[in-house]
Amino acid sequence: MSKVIGTSVNRHEGRAKVTGTATYGAEHQIPGLVYGYLIVATIANGSIRKMELKEAQDSAGVLAIFTHENMPAFPKANEGTSFHIGEPRLPLADDRIHYGGQIIGLVVADTLERACHAASLVKVEYETETPTIDRQQASFQKSPRDASFEQGNVADALATAPVKISATYTTPRQLHAMMEPHAIIAQWHDRNSLTVCEPTQWVFLQQRTYATLFGIPVEEVRVISPYIGGGFGAKASPWPHAILCIAAAREINRPLKVVVSRQQMTAIVGHRSPTEQTIELGANQSGQLIAIAHAAKSYTSPVNPKYVENCIGVTPTMYAAPNLRVEQEIAVVNVGMPTFMRAPGENPGMYALESAMDELAWALQIDPIELRLKNATTEHQRKKLPFSSKHFAECLKLGAEQFRWYDRPMQTKAISRDDKLVGWGMAGATFPAIRMGASATVRLLLDGTAQVLTSANDMGTGSYTVVAIAAAETLDLPVDKIKVEIGDSRFPNGGLAGASMMTASLAPAVANACQLLLQEVNAKNATEALIALRESGRPFLEITASSQPGEEGKQWAFQSWGAHFCEVEVDELLGRVQVKRWISVMDVGRAMNAKAAASQIRGGVIMGIGEALMEECLHDLNLGLPVIKDLATYHIPVHADIPRIEVSFVGKPDLNFNPLGVRGCGEIAITGVSAAIANAVYHATGKRIRDLPITADKLL
Ligand code: MOS
Repeated sequence: MSKVIGTSVNRHEGRAKVTGTATYGAEHQIPGLVYGYLIVATIANGSIRKMELKEAQDSAGVLAIFTHENMPAFPKANEGTSFHIGEPRLPLADDRIHYGGQIIGLVVADTLERACHAASLVKVEYETETPTIDRQQASFQKSPRDASFEQGNVADALATAPVKISATYTTPRQLHAMMEPHAIIAQWHDRNSLTVCEPTQWVFLQQRTYATLFGIPVEEVRVISPYIGGGFGAKASPWPHAILCIAAAREINRPLKVVVSRQQMTAIVGHRSPTEQTIELGANQSGQLIAIAHAAKSYTSPVNPKYVENCIGVTPTMYAAPNLRVEQEIAVVNVGMPTFMRAPGENPGMYALESAMDELAWALQIDPIELRLKNATTEHQRKKLPFSSKHFAECLKLGAEQFRWYDRPMQTKAISRDDKLVGWGMAGATFPAIRMGASATVRLLLDGTAQVLTSANDMGTGSYTVVAIAAAETLDLPVDKIKVEIGDSRFPNGGLAGASMMTASLAPAVANACQLLLQEVNAKNATEALIALRESGRPFLEITASSQPGEEGKQWAFQSWGAHFCEVEVDELLGRVQVKRWISVMDVGRAMNAKAAASQIRGGVIMGIGEALMEECLHDLNLGLPVIKDLATYHIPVHADIPRIEVSFVGKPDLNFNPLGVRGCGEIAITGVSAAIANAVYHATGKRIRDLPITADKLL
């Protein structure tokens, strides 16, 4: 019987964050620190003919300038590491420019201001070639990560289906726009031992990647990342600015800090690729799906022609169709690297699929929930495996009840309020459940408190608290007696905060370590273990243990499910959309911390509202440079844009997945959000917007 799991526990690190005592990557105080400022390319394709450095070198406080002409080599860099680097081309590798904003130099000075000023004095002559920026000019190829798949015969089925829809949906380039910018402090000790303070979603891998790149033993690299101000996927692997900072710090033999400016972040630390997706659905008159076809296109960078925004991955998991085909193509354009961004692929994919399902419901004149229930699948149609735990129908039904969905008139422009049109929309949500091996050290101390140490990290997701909950539950201690230390590579491998897998990987490891600790002294709980500890004369009991997936993935498909419901108001004269009401019902296995899990879902919904109505990183098609400069030009929601968001959980533990039955809830939250809004806008206005974001110009 759980005492702590599933209750609402306040954030372990909440006070430190709101009182400003939490130390973020760039805030660590290091004696003798010097500052680097990046120089970035102002063309999007071509090469550097000449860099005039004299004036910058003579500028006050300047200690060094690195360019492709004096960049230290990386003898140990190889194919094996490149996968783990956000941009596989190493910084300042040669004189080539592949995209606007690419790093072409680093100025190091005794203060940030002096470094920044000196960088402005560097004159660059380019050999300019015409960049390919415009999507219309890009040439597409089959995705190298081949997720294409067909069952049945889609062409024949679509040709004869009594009811059909076919539509193309587009989404723009999006930025992670997390609050804490990318930043790093690198400190070398005798050229062969390195300490790095840097926000990272994967402490363990960051440590290994740096060790390989700089040719030193893993134990000689310490990565410190106790607090992260948001990552959303962009902090899952090292980027060129960080590698350059570490290399430069070694050359000048000083601790060095590099903070990436907001404007620089538009090019060098990843973004979500734009997508173009065509969905064709065929059904019989009663709404039974006969065919689903989903063809997606995304874009990548010349520096890695393989990165795919995999929009089609979850399509075979949502609705049953005897004829089903998914395919994906990519094209190279002269932009920086796209990367993982909250539900990479699943999010744009679900915008298209869940919009198309709404279009089909209107074409059939049946309720969109009924359409979804009618076509439920209990099997992952690509893996040909049953879902271990799928309560999608429950999410739809509970959400409909809470929202009073069935009061909705089945016609557009049917409701108005204060001279605005009102519309209701809904959409499904989904995200695969993944876990990896993770480890933790647990210590029980004489004062009756316990410590948990693991290299995991908390990017705002609640990992500190979830670790404390798992330990408190297993040891039978109050949660405030658990001290959690994470974000340090000296601790055992806590796993990756990505693909929504940290809680599902780490919480079972912590629980396992606690259980083994009790077993060791033959105790049922911490109170009994303390008696044994006191008798033993030892200062503490300690154990390190791990937990990893077994063979269960051969038998089951693991995935999370949900449903979003929303009401929008549309001002027809101004084309302005406001989201007024929101209900999300989620099936994420067991919710470890009711409060934090609901917050995760709210965060995803808010990010999805931004995606639906505002977010867009445009490029100047002639210059090839992003026109976004900061968080004033990259529009994201503010409080006034967000209604009360009601979240509830189905709460059924997925015990085939791990002993705690917990999946993840970080990424699923954003999936389906923009479709629910687009569907509500259609209900309000009769206008189907198939191109995000839904801005005023598209509604007028
Ligand atoms: Mo997530 S986009 O795997 O951090």
